[in-house]
Amino acid sequence: MEPYDLIVIGGGPAGYLGAQRAAKKKKRVLLFEKNKLGGVCLNEGCIPTKTLLNSAKIYEHTKNGNSFGILTENVLIDPTAIQKRKNRVIHMLVGGVKMTMKKHKVEVIYQQAKIKGKTDRGFLVEAEGEIYEARNLLIAAGSQPVIPPIKGGKEAMESGLAVTSRELLDFPQLPNKLVIVGAGVIGLEMAAYFAGMGTKVTVVEMLDKIAGTMDRKITKMLQKELEKKGIQFMLGYQVTEIEKDGVVCKKEDQWIRCKADKILWSVGRHPIIKGLGLESVNLKIENGKIVTDEHLRTSVEGIYAAGDVNGKMMLAHTAYRESETAVNDMFGIQDTIDYGVIPSVIYTNPELASVGETEESAKEKGLRMKTVEIPMAYSGRFVAENDGIGGICKLLMDQDTGCLAGAHILGSYASEMIWGIGALMEQKVTIEEMKKIVFPHPSVSEIIREAIFKF
Ligand code: NAI
Repeated sequence: MEPYDLIVIGGGPAGYLGAQRAAKKKKRVLLFEKNKLGGVCLNEGCIPTKTLLNSAKIYEHTKNGNSFGILTENVLIDPTAIQKRKNRVIHMLVGGVKMTMKKHKVEVIYQQAKIKGKTDRGFLVEAEGEIYEARNLLIAAGSQPVIPPIKGGKEAMESGLAVTSRELLDFPQLPNKLVIVGAGVIGLEMAAYFAGMGTKVTVVEMLDKIAGTMDRKITKMLQKELEKKGIQFMLGYQVTEIEKDGVVCKKEDQWIRCKADKILWSVGRHPIIKGLGLESVNLKIENGKIVTDEHLRTSVEGIYAAGDVNGKMMLAHTAYRESETAVNDMFGIQDTIDYGVIPSVIYTNPELASVGETEESAKEKGLRMKTVEIPMAYSGRFVAENDGIGGICKLLMDQDTGCLAGAHILGSYASEMIWGIGALMEQKVTIEEMKKIVFPHPSVSEIIREAIFKF
């Protein structure tokens, strides 16, 4: 039998989209998935969290409807119904991916696959004793949560006191007191959900700010908005031990105990590279990540790696673009990925969306920036729809090119607006050219137009 044109290992966003794109090019594609199609994104990440966060948002809006003239009393939460809806959404979307694979004639085998070596015709892949052959491989095996080896950590995981976001998302009851370790994207979204639903939430973060490298001033504003919802932040504290009823945190020579009936580990994720047989083809790995270039080529010609497994930017939409780039490159279409214009979003309420340079990163690179910052209240629609909630739009212009170099928006619909700024940055449209763009009125997106005219 002729080798497949492509074997994909992993059925998450990078894997299923790569398979679909290749099949659309009339290539013969086989995809291996050891668990469920859709990967972390659909089954235990992006989609379930957004479903839960929307329930929290509806609950908050209903409770706080008074200032909008909506009088409600005795608003109740039904955690079982929330879980059921979340599972229904996952089921529907995973079903959609299955249908797409079928429609594009991608063969899907639900088994664990391992690379076995290289021949003159391509690569050998083994699954449950069978050998498959392909001219190209796309490794899209994803990532898993980091569990730091701290005292009491293993016991807490075994007893169920400490969990990762995977277990917490399926938890049938709301905990009374939740301690979240890490104020990165997962930590903040989980904090927003559980605090929104009435759980007492403490977030312990060893850095002096939340949300990693995102704009310092805006993340401070987000922190304030989240504190208004009752979330307590302990910044500069490192969790060093887990006890039977909580965590021990350390800041310089100060130690604090923080009680909890659930603890969430959200201290990062690392690529899954074990068991893939990468040594059989001598694939280059650095710091536990598969090394890739801007075409997603690995150190072995014909093998590509897309998504979390290369550890470049662990985001589903990055995975999509990476797999498209990889598939284009392997079938002779010139393509490269520009990581500098990929947006990132924290889906709290308010949302924080960001693309490109921050003031801090621009300074480090020695770029000459002009910054404009305006409150979201410059948008009539934002004012019409929000009460007692702050927001800001901050744009950075590269003075040498006259183009936008970064954008950071805190406020409603930020996640839906940021792609446009990324596109303008990618197309290198200047601020002067942007002034001719017409935005619908009234819309929150007009904030971008307002900000552009301040340069
Ligand atoms: P993260 O890397 O975003 O944040 C982890 C945080 O934990 C860091 O701020 C770190 O300083 C802190 N930390 C580490 N050890 C600690 C300790 N012992 N005590 C206190 N703080 C400690 O990791 P996170 O939030 O787990 O997310 C994992 C990946 O998933 C990220 O790459 C993220 O981009 C992605 N993701 C993206 C989403 C989105 O785009 N909306 C949603 C969910 C996940």
